[in-house]
Amino acid sequence: MDNLDQLKAEILGNISKANDLKSLDDVRVFALGKQGAITSLMKSLGTMSIEEKKEKGQKFNELRIDITEALDQNKSVLEAKELNSRLETEKIDVTLPSRIFETGKIHPLSQTWYDVVQIFGKMGFSVAEGPEIEDDFHNFTALNVPDEHPARQEQDTFYLPDTKDGKKMVLRTQTSSVQIRTMSKTKPPIRIIAPGRTYRSDSDPTHTPTFHQVEGLMVDKNINMSHLKGCLIDFCQEYFGVENVPVRFRPAFFPFTEPSAEMEIGCKRSSGEVIIGAGDEWLEILGCGMVHPNVLKTCGIDSDEYQGFAFGMGLERITMLKYGLPDLRAFYECDTRWIKHYGFSLFNSLSGDNL
Ligand code: DAH
Repeated sequence: MDNLDQLKAEILGNISKANDLKSLDDVRVFALGKQGAITSLMKSLGTMSIEEKKEKGQKFNELRIDITEALDQNKSVLEAKELNSRLETEKIDVTLPSRIFETGKIHPLSQTWYDVVQIFGKMGFSVAEGPEIEDDFHNFTALNVPDEHPARQEQDTFYLPDTKDGKKMVLRTQTSSVQIRTMSKTKPPIRIIAPGRTYRSDSDPTHTPTFHQVEGLMVDKNINMSHLKGCLIDFCQEYFGVENVPVRFRPAFFPFTEPSAEMEIGCKRSSGEVIIGAGDEWLEILGCGMVHPNVLKTCGIDSDEYQGFAFGMGLERITMLKYGLPDLRAFYECDTRWIKHYGFSLFNSLSGDNL
């Protein structure tokens, strides 16, 4: 056996010993790689005489062809082996029962939030926002609630430490603060609603320290109480899904509106359930009124030229009434059984099918 035969036997031996694609490739690199044994032989032809080149060239070439063939052949065998073992191990048992696929539910309160935005959106109101950590000025003073006014105590305010420059801070007790923020930076006509989180130190079956309100504000020329009534009646009919829902507006007091009213809707209570739109009982659902001239003035709006109406209602309250939910605290207990029962499917929720 000359050197060439020896080399061939060695490489073929290694090819047949390789039992995976990685070790087969190592053999290929050893033989045919850039620095490989056969590649070096081919390179050495350059230094040979024409005669020698002819003779050796042919032999080297035959060797290269034999080795390439052997590599290719073994590669197909190993590839098939690897595929078979993957098919063995990655088998899927289509007869197994499928995994339980649970979809989430939309919380009734979120549903109300979407619905309120949608209904007022159709009437041309856009959504405005303000901070939940609010200064005393926007939450009270600018809303015509002076320092010693009893409304400050009535609202069970959570006070926060003063800021460095001495500003009194609170967790906003009402979304009415967004009225001030909007009117201070926008010129009339204004038509906004401000749904958002509010805070009061209060807890019983119908009150939680954190709750939600939606504020409404419309400011323009010649706005009057009948615009306010029409807008709120339309809202109630659509939200509660009751045509000709009986409503009444009773005189009330809010420092930021004059005149002020509370809107009530007709209902009936039967065996612990509230039926909206029937019977001869009344339920208060929101506060409203014509924006007080002092509030307009504070925000730089001329009250001789512009008037406005405003309203504020509790999102939890209208949710509880619509869906007959008796205990507000369940809203925040994160009990998945409750949300499964009272929650809404995502698809109905966003399409407005719920209305
Ligand atoms: N901010 C009042 C509250 O929290 C609700 C309210 C009443 C808002 C009358 C208004 C309004 O905009 O005009 O009780």
